[in-house]
Amino acid sequence: MSSFNFGIVGTGFIAGVVAGALARSDKATLSAVASRSLDRAKEFTTEYAGTPVEGWQALIARDDVDAVYIATPTVAKEEIALAAVAAGKHILVDKPFMDSASLKRMTDAAAAKGLVFMDATHFVHHPRTAAIQAAIPGKIGTPRSLHTRFYFPFEDRDNIRFDPKQEPAGALGDLAWYSARAMVEYLQPQGAISQVSVVADRDPDKGAVTRVVALVGFEDGAVSSFDTGWTCGSLLMDFALVGTAGVIEMDDFVLDVHDSLIFQNPDMVARYVHRTGVTNRTEFTEIPVPAKTGQHVSMVDNFADLAASGDAAGRAAYAEASRQTQSILDAVWAKIAG
Ligand SMILES: NC(=O)c1ccc[n+]([C@@H]2O[C@H](COP(=O)([O-])OP(=O)(O)OC[C@H]3O[C@@H](n4cnc5c(N)ncnc54)[C@H](OP(=O)(O)O)[C@@H]3O)[C@@H](O)[C@H]2O)c1
Repeated sequence: MSSFNFGIVGTGFIAGVVAGALARSDKATLSAVASRSLDRAKEFTTEYAGTPVEGWQALIARDDVDAVYIATPTVAKEEIALAAVAAGKHILVDKPFMDSASLKRMTDAAAAKGLVFMDATHFVHHPRTAAIQAAIPGKIGTPRSLHTRFYFPFEDRDNIRFDPKQEPAGALGDLAWYSARAMVEYLQPQGAISQVSVVADRDPDKGAVTRVVALVGFEDGAVSSFDTGWTCGSLLMDFALVGTAGVIEMDDFVLDVHDSLIFQNPDMVARYVHRTGVTNRTEFTEIPVPAKTGQHVSMVDNFADLAASGDAAGRAAYAEASRQTQSILDAVWAKIAG
């Protein structure tokens, strides 16, 4: 039985996903769930686990909560995160953040108390991410550009995603976050952003940003394009990392087809494709990277391990990856917001 306990704030979609991950984890458990409504917390804990709690303030005060997972709309995240850290809790905060300044307040507060801050990006916890990072020099040389497309068909205009008061960056924060994080993990640009070009669409009624197409250049000559939104009738999660000696491609870079929050395909293995030389598709190399468990389960496992380890450098690395990701979103948002 694990002794590392998560409390969850929020009872919506992604709270259920992480509650499910905790049910599968052998390193962490769900001890309590806070909702603004005790009835909703009770309903949630009937399906998953934990003690239902009314209000996040009561949850962060509990002795049986070691870490707080914040699964609320973006506008509410910082206040809860800072209060949780003040109460001595590690924090797993779902992406995106209001802006880099808000994120810094959270990461600084956690660092000052020796607590874990981690954003809840699942794909970085899939072994495929580390496998590609290790393979890059040998397989594709120096990465020079990264092109990603992440479209998730979504039309529920009553959802928080379409409410700029709750999710100010709309599809940029919801989807392009992963494109920006892919830049951080795989392109690994050195130096500051040197240029940004962007085209964005807004929902005519709600005002939410629904589609963002952008080009981001860095001082070292690395460049990345992304095409993201809710406005395509098809799920797209396409990725091409172009290096001096070849290319690495995936068609599921955010949510792997084998075992992730939208896919359960036991017969399919996560993989990436390596292309080099003048070849046709029959000559591309498929490299499978099986995972022992789902990437969202690995996320809570890795969080529990990091909290237990007391590894300050490990904590700083997660916070730095969050900082770099949000800073890319901020640069693109500055162009959208004008
Ligand atoms: N990492 C990922 O893969 C991933 C995937 C999806 C979403 N997300 C992110 O997670 C966040 C939540 O998304 P979602 O789809 O789960 O939204 P959701 O279904 O609307 O759930 C949000 C929950 O937060 C609670 N809440 C709402 N307003 C609140 C407030 N002002 N203060 C405190 N709690 C509040 C609500 O629970 P109660 O009514 O019970 O209080 C609500 O159910 C978004 O920022 C989104 O970008 C991340």
